[in-house]
Amino acid sequence: MSSCWGNKVKISIFGESHGKGIGVVVDNLPAGEKIDMEQVLMHMGRRAPGKDKTATPRLEKDLPQILSGMLNDTTTGTPMCAVIENTNTRSGDYGNLLTAPRPGHGDYPGFIRYNGFNDIRGGGHFSGRLTAPIVFAGSVCRQILEKKGIKIASHIQSVGKVCDSKFNPLKVDESLIDSLNKQSFPVIDPSSEPKMREYIENARMSQDSTGGVIECVATGVPAGIGSPMFGGVENLISSIMFGIPAVKGIEFGAGFAITEMLGSQANDQYAYDENGKVVTLSNNNGGITGGITNGMPILFRIAVKPTPSISKPQQTVDLTKHENTELVIHGRHDPCIVPRATVVAESALAIALINLL
Ligand SMILES: Cc1cc2nc3c(=O)[nH]c(=O)nc-3n(C[C@H](O)[C@H](O)[C@H](O)COP(=O)(O)O)c2cc1C
Repeated sequence: MSSCWGNKVKISIFGESHGKGIGVVVDNLPAGEKIDMEQVLMHMGRRAPGKDKTATPRLEKDLPQILSGMLNDTTTGTPMCAVIENTNTRSGDYGNLLTAPRPGHGDYPGFIRYNGFNDIRGGGHFSGRLTAPIVFAGSVCRQILEKKGIKIASHIQSVGKVCDSKFNPLKVDESLIDSLNKQSFPVIDPSSEPKMREYIENARMSQDSTGGVIECVATGVPAGIGSPMFGGVENLISSIMFGIPAVKGIEFGAGFAITEMLGSQANDQYAYDENGKVVTLSNNNGGITGGITNGMPILFRIAVKPTPSISKPQQTVDLTKHENTELVIHGRHDPCIVPRATVVAESALAIALINLL
């Protein structure tokens, strides 16, 4: 099993949900970059569980201990290693999963792939907890990107069928980006938050879970970055986004809706703006054409599935007795992964973009 990603700034994620700890090694960060640790902790706090009823009550502080690569809050250029201790584990909750795999989770495929030797407690290496190191690495990367004028934000586009407003694909105001970046339940239209929360709570009360869509944007990315075909910006972003557990789809710009447009509607026509910069008059391609950035905001949406672990009884198999059985899942789980996954998607985008630059 290898959980490495990137060819310039490389990340290697290690650990299991109920092991001693989890963490990341980040290779090839530039030396001499001042990192505001308050900001890093703020983003990690947005992902951390236990805040409200939309998330698992498993309370973990998610404090990264930096073992190398940083001195006086400044990158040294050597591999940066951060470890996060697992302090709140209740492995007993996972007893029956050893033989009765959870539908929708990695238990059964993982059992087959690793001949039953993988650590299944808390989902092991398949757990959403492994996204904490992604947020650590991404929070460092996004600070380096911000100094180059690149800003990243995301919001909860939808939970079930409850929708928020969408980003303006042509221009996302800095004030909106800054405000979304501070929220653990980021929405553009504040009136959508209570409706989404109610939808999640209803799912939770019915011993069920719900999914949703996260919309992500990066502004200030210059034109001309990327390559056609296999080295495209869409390829790179998609590859890291699918590293986030529970992500099942991605669409750039107008996404699948572009298929219902005519060419004359779909084409992003060019113009010079008042500063003499080439811009497009629409952004149906999400800031990327031919695999290369065109200078417009990079815009995409990811589909996040409903949390697999639900307490409603489900049909599964008993792998030792080789018979069908019913599974009732105990333990603490997110009724909706989407709010916590927003900052994970932003962080993954930062890691992808730093690789392109
Ligand atoms: C932030 C976050 C939290 C998650 N929390 C849970 C959880 O509480 N319970 C659960 O069953 N799955 C949770 N997941 C999702 C599973 O890890 C994921 O569905 C599983 O590994 C199977 O992978 P796949 O959905 O990508 O196919 C979480 C994912 C993320 C990103």
